[in-house]
Amino acid sequence: MPRTFRIAPSLLSADFAQLGTEVKNVVAAGADWIHFDVMDNHYVPNLTFGPMVCQALRPHAVRADGSRVPIDVHLMVQPVDALAQAFAQAGADLISFHPDASAHVDRTLQLIRAAGCQAGLVFNPATPVDVLEWVIDKVDLVLVMSVNPGFGGQSFIPATLRKVEKLRKLIDAHHRETGRDIRLEVDGGIKIDNIRAVADAGADTFVAGSAIFGAPDYKAVIDTMRQQLAR
Ligand code: DX5
Ligand code: ZN
Repeated sequence: MPRTFRIAPSLLSADFAQLGTEVKNVVAAGADWIHFDVMDNHYVPNLTFGPMVCQALRPHAVRADGSRVPIDVHLMVQPVDALAQAFAQAGADLISFHPDASAHVDRTLQLIRAAGCQAGLVFNPATPVDVLEWVIDKVDLVLVMSVNPGFGGQSFIPATLRKVEKLRKLIDAHHRETGRDIRLEVDGGIKIDNIRAVADAGADTFVAGSAIFGAPDYKAVIDTMRQQLAR
């Protein structure tokens, strides 16, 4: 099946003193999605931003032609449900959570979708993916962490490629059975020089924080990533 690749710059590595400008600049540079990392200093040892900041940024995530750039909210929070609903209200398009952070994964997926968003499950490097089998019909996105969540700028953990390969098989089998598309996103340590290998393992959507916001020219990085993917 031919895959459409998407690049999702993570605002975690943007300049927090000018987030609106950073969103505009990275949209102009060709971002397909905006990845929004929500950390609560409980599920992960770091604290970022909440629904009010998402709502404030929502109007800036629009292309020159007026089309919306989806906001891809990655919840690293526990508990999940109340914040997931708050982000749906705040204009999120996709909301992903870690199944180990929710007492009732099926219920959390249902409430995200009932709020009009696409729902995703996130798997840490050491978390098994078995839960997916029982809820796959309610999942729109699977996010594989290729670092331990909490910080930008960490090194890619190569063993996670095997998890991507395994998930690609499950997702393709589900597509053959039902015709439903589930996106397979990878997050952590993605750079120009490893994005192709991550795509070869089966990913179709790539989060990149420090690789994009740490460079002077965001468009040059995104364009080079796309060249690698087109190879
Ligand atoms: C880590 C976050 C990532 C982070 C990736 O907990 O979920 O989205 O921003 O940053 P880089 O691309 O720098 O590894
Ligand atoms: Zn993330």
